[in-house]
This record gives sequence, structure tokens and C-alpha cells, in this order.
Amino acid sequence: MALKYFQLLFCIPLVFLVFSDIGHATRHAPDDKNLHSPFEFIKHLEGCHKGNKSKEIHRLKNYLQKFGYLDDLDQGNADDDTFDDALESAVKTYQSNFHINPTGILDVITVSKMVETRCGVPDIVRGANSTRADRRKHDSGPVIHAVAHYSFFPNRLRWPPTKTHLTYNILPNTPSNAVGPVRRAFNQWASATHFTFSQVQSNQRADLVIGFFRGNHGDGHSFDGRGGVLAHAFAPTNGRFHYDADERWVDGIVMRAFDLETVAVHEIGHLLGLGHSSVREAIMYPSIPAGVRKNLHEDDIEGIRVLYNV
Ligand SMILES: *[C@@H]1O[C@H](CO)[C@@H](O)[C@H](O)[C@H]1NC(C)=O
Ligand SMILES: *[C@@H]1O[C@H](CO)[C@@H](O)[C@H](O)[C@H]1NC(C)=O
Ligand SMILES: [Zn+2]
Ligand SMILES: [Zn+2]
Repeated sequence: MALKYFQLLFCIPLVFLVFSDIGHATRHAPDDKNLHSPFEFIKHLEGCHKGNKSKEIHRLKNYLQKFGYLDDLDQGNADDDTFDDALESAVKTYQSNFHINPTGILDVITVSKMVETRCGVPDIVRGANSTRADRRKHDSGPVIHAVAHYSFFPNRLRWPPTKTHLTYNILPNTPSNAVGPVRRAFNQWASATHFTFSQVQSNQRADLVIGFFRGNHGDGHSFDGRGGVLAHAFAPTNGRFHYDADERWVDGIVMRAFDLETVAVHEIGHLLGLGHSSVREAIMYPSIPAGVRKNLHEDDIEGIRVLYNV
């Protein structure tokens, strides 16, 4: 009896710790910084170039496919371990997109960019109807949409011009500390564009739906645990924006944690029709480190103006 009581007492703080960990503290703090990042494997490929073979190379091919740099029609070649022509071309495109000397070699700078935490939306999104030849053209030449600044989804997917007021719904599973930052993110967009937003109750239909999900959550784009991909959102007029619930989220600037508002401003940009920008200061830049806050940049605002012709 005494033993059971002790076990119960022991369990209470343990359960509390596990629950309070969700979205707040890191379980292995303070030195687990990148230890289990899903992108960590890329560090083992440093120095690799065409002709190299390694068991990690097919994982790099999957990474570059996921973010739009490698043609997914070449699936037949995508599972082997050889650094082939297609991979070299994809690495060069990646390097150009991030203003790195396009050598096709996995140098230190390229690897350190690739392991950064980032958005799950691809940097190069091709239309459903683009042909193999189109894709090749994109791979070899400059990346039309992604190089200079802001970008759009294929066919310039956007909300109908008359629909300038959008409602949003924050799902009930959302941690309470995320609600304020999401609202402030919508306010940032409202004050810089022709859009207005209002929150509706969680049981009402809304144009935009925001929630926290982990792992495989049924939309075909599984999250990857702590690190790697932080969030993703869908092009208009889908309206879904998902945070990866496995990340350490905070409201503000905290070491080794991600700012809820900054990521919301980025993902709302996708909801409105913006793709990724190659301007590092833009909110639509694909990667964001922990402990950083960013706001809307003129590149983002110009993107919306051009997309909606306002
Ligand atoms: C890549 O291949 C070269 C030979 O072409 C070899 O010298 C080098 O060690 C290999 N690098 C890696 C990281 O496997
Ligand atoms: C693809 O082509 C078909 C037929 O030409 C067209 O109906 C459809 O709208 C196109 N889809 C996209 C995404 O361009
Ligand atoms: Zn993004
Ligand atoms: Zn999702």
C-alpha cells in the first residue's frame, strides 16, 4: 500500500513534465540542439560531388525532390546511392536559388544551408501540366520564379479578386500561447495589403484553418519530428496552415525555439498565394533559424500587389 502511494506520488510530477513539454521545453536540453534533426544526415555528405557513392545520397535525392529541385519523374534513379547528373543539376539549382556559387559540389556553405530548419512548401512548385521538357528547362537554366524575389504558385493561384475578406478558424487543439501570435500575424498582413481577416468560432466554416499536427496527419505531407520542417500551408483557395506540433514553439525570441508569429506570417503568405522568396530578409524566405523574429518585408508586400494587381 505504502509502495503504491509512493509510485503515485512519483508519477504525478512525471506526467506533468511530459505534458508541459509539449510546445514548451526541450526534453534533452540544453545540448541536443541539432542532434536529431531530420536534415542532419546531409552533414555526412560534405565534400561529395558527381561520381561519389554513399548510402546517404538517396536521402539527399529525396530531400531535393521534396523541396522541388529534383524531377520526381526520374523516380527510377532516385533510390540509388550514386551522385549522378540529375543530382548535380539539382544541387546547382539549389545553390543558384540560395545565391551560392553553383558548383554542384556539396561544399560547406551548401550543406549548412540545407540543414537549416525550414518551411515544408517546395521552393520550386511546378504546374500539374508542365512537361518533362519544361522541367528539364527549369533545371538547367535559371529558376524563373525563384531567383529574383517573391514567387507565386503555378497558374498564379489566388483568391477571387472580389474576395478580400477572409475568415479564419484556429482549431481547438491549438496551444493557448499560439492564438495571440496567429492573430497578430493576420494583423500584419491586413495592415500591409487589401485583405481583411476575422476569426470565427471553431465550429463554423472558415476560409482558412490553422492547427497543430505531428507526424503523418493525413494531408500527404508528414511532419518530421523536432527540427527539419517547421510548418506548411496550402495554396489558394485550400486554406490549411499546419504547425509541426513537435517543434519547440514560443511567443518571442528564445534560444533554440521558434517564434510562432514569424512562422504564421510566413505561412499566411502561402495561404494568400505567395511562394518562396530568395530575398533573405523577406518573410517568404524558405528557412528560419531558432531564436529569430522577422516581419513582413517590402518584397512580400510587392508580391501580393503584383499577384492581385492592386
Ligand atoms: C568522392 O569521390 C572521390 C573520388 O572521385 C574521393 O576521393 C572522395 O573521397 C569521395 N568523397 C566522399 C565524401 O565520399
Ligand atoms: C491541365 O490541362 C487541362 C487540359 O488541357 C486543363 O483542363 C487543366 O485546367 C490544366 N491544369 C492546370 C493545372 O493547368
Ligand atoms: Zn513556406
Ligand atoms: Zn499538414
